[in-house]
Amino acid sequence: RGGAATVADLAGRHVVVSAGGTREPLDPVRYLGNRSSGKQGYALARVAAARGARVTLIEANTGLPDPAGVDVVRVGTAVQLREAVLKAAADADAVVMAAAVADFRPAEYAGGKIKKKEGQDPAPLSLVRNPDILAEISADRANPGQVVVGFAAETDDVLANGREKLRRKGCDLLVVNEVGERKTFGSEQNEAVVLAADGGETPVPYGPKEALAEIVWDLVAPRL
Ligand code: CTP
Ligand code: CA
Repeated sequence: RGGAATVADLAGRHVVVSAGGTREPLDPVRYLGNRSSGKQGYALARVAAARGARVTLIEANTGLPDPAGVDVVRVGTAVQLREAVLKAAADADAVVMAAAVADFRPAEYAGGKIKKKEGQDPAPLSLVRNPDILAEISADRANPGQVVVGFAAETDDVLANGREKLRRKGCDLLVVNEVGERKTFGSEQNEAVVLAADGGETPVPYGPKEALAEIVWDLVAPRL
């Protein structure tokens, strides 16, 4: 691809994209969060809409303006994200999990602000596992032809970890980013490799998040 003309190859399709990062509240003023900006998910949503899809964008804590022509659902936590994704995925042709989902949440939510006590060490923080949304939708597809895409940011052994994660999650495609100094978090650019369950491996050169989004939809479209 890369021409000026946009192909409406996703016309008549409903696609679901999650974006941003979940926040897991500790008390009314604090949360456990992550550094996902949501920009890659928004690029995926914009590009899918431009290619003719009906798009449901489920966003967690991005603060980004709604893209034109996209249905936006706002969530905060991983549990809320799961609910929204499962609901939207029920009639979706493709689901792309670009959101950074907190693996753990505080075991307890303090209804009032946690206060420090004079001369006392803080109580250790207990965490519990969050549901694995990508693994769940991959295992329980709403329809047999549904295409499921995951994202993974890795710092070491990027390809080997990516392959193993693709198998573990059971999705069709996994976009693997190497996390580094200028890459990925909050930046406008991205570099990745897209691994396919059928063995395919598509390198994506360093470039705008739109370009990666185009390649993801190029790989999804023929699998629909
Ligand atoms: N994901 C998800 N639910 C979770 C955790 C992750 O749906 N509870 C999705 C993310 O949206 C992403 C993919 O799974 O598309 C990979 O996320 P990642 O954090 O790399 O995978 P984990 O299995 O959590 O592995 P790790 O221990 O490396 O964090
Ligand atoms: Ca994780």
